[in-house]
Amino acid sequence: MKIMITGGAGFIGSALIRYIMNNRPEVEVVNVDKLTYAGDLSSIPYESESRYAFEKVDICDFDKLRSVFEKHEPDYVMHLAAESHVDRSIDGPLVFLETNIIGTYNMLQASREYLNKSNKDNFKFLHISTDEVYGDLEGTDDYFREDTPYAPSSPYSASKASSDHLVRAWGRTFNLPILITNCSNNYGPYQNPEKLIPVTILNCINNKPIPVYGDGKQIRDWLFVDDHVKGLLKVLEEGQVGNTYNIGGDNEVKNIDVVGEICSILDEVSPRQNESKYSDLITFVKDRPGHDVRYAIDFSKINKELGWKPEETFKTGMRKTVLWYLENQAWWKQKVSK
Ligand SMILES: NC(=O)c1ccc[n+]([C@@H]2O[C@H](COP(=O)([O-])OP(=O)(O)OC[C@H]3O[C@@H](n4cnc5c(N)ncnc54)[C@H](O)[C@@H]3O)[C@@H](O)[C@H]2O)c1
Repeated sequence: MKIMITGGAGFIGSALIRYIMNNRPEVEVVNVDKLTYAGDLSSIPYESESRYAFEKVDICDFDKLRSVFEKHEPDYVMHLAAESHVDRSIDGPLVFLETNIIGTYNMLQASREYLNKSNKDNFKFLHISTDEVYGDLEGTDDYFREDTPYAPSSPYSASKASSDHLVRAWGRTFNLPILITNCSNNYGPYQNPEKLIPVTILNCINNKPIPVYGDGKQIRDWLFVDDHVKGLLKVLEEGQVGNTYNIGGDNEVKNIDVVGEICSILDEVSPRQNESKYSDLITFVKDRPGHDVRYAIDFSKINKELGWKPEETFKTGMRKTVLWYLENQAWWKQKVSK
């Protein structure tokens, strides 16, 4: 069984590849990644292993994608490559439209062309997306379900919503065997230092102010990345073709409480010298434009149909994450110094 994984050098893609390499000896991996600022091969040191191959390819380059399909003949595609940072999408949306929309279109077309020529009867295309496509739950106690209407707020979520629509259209119109997952905010080891949780941990370690947007009361659901990876493989292998599955962590937490939890873990495991608390570093900054207030995810479909549920609680997952950043300073130091 050979899986082509796009974006395998990123945060979630690399966790997926590590999980497969460590737990699924029968699976071969082809990692297709452009290696943007967010890609890092040092988190997936498998170049010498025969069941791992790396192709440095931009998914916006159709001809190169076509040759990767012809060369490797994958059984499945897991499409994670994307521009993924909301703040960057506000500063410069174009690359989000190029990679997330045109890149996904290229992946779909290349898959179609490949399927027409090959005899891969069980081929599946799993598109990995976000719960941000559903918009904002402010003022309600609702949850995102698979049939919640799309109402994206940021250029990032609008580009991911567009890609989801393309994937569904290719399924319906061209009979491409597609699956879609929409998940909540991931956290865990090897996350790029620009995202909330690594920023908070690193600023604590470096004794710098911890920036918190607005009043910090925005609520997100937090999903430990290894739980997500197991959910993705479940959907790929057991999900019903054509279906969408929401994947959530069962952890609705306000941003300010996320920061507070990290500070209290660090107060315990690596106290500050001057007896002050890490939370003294919290600094409220101007809110992000269009910032959604609440996301919450109903993952009962994947739970009932495929028997998946998250294994980590917010407390256990966050402790593992903080300890990982403390113990792996060389990894993030080379990234922050770039
Ligand atoms: N991180 C989250 O909390 C989260 C939540 C929901 C959904 N998602 C989705 O999961 C996927 C992976 O997210 P992540 O956090 O690992 O992202 P990431 O930014 O850490 O990694 C993205 C990877 O894609 C690669 N890439 C970017 N543009 C490319 C291009 N044009 N061609 C080939 N490769 C390219 C990058 O080099 C990088 O390795 C994305 O599709 C994202 O939208 C992420």
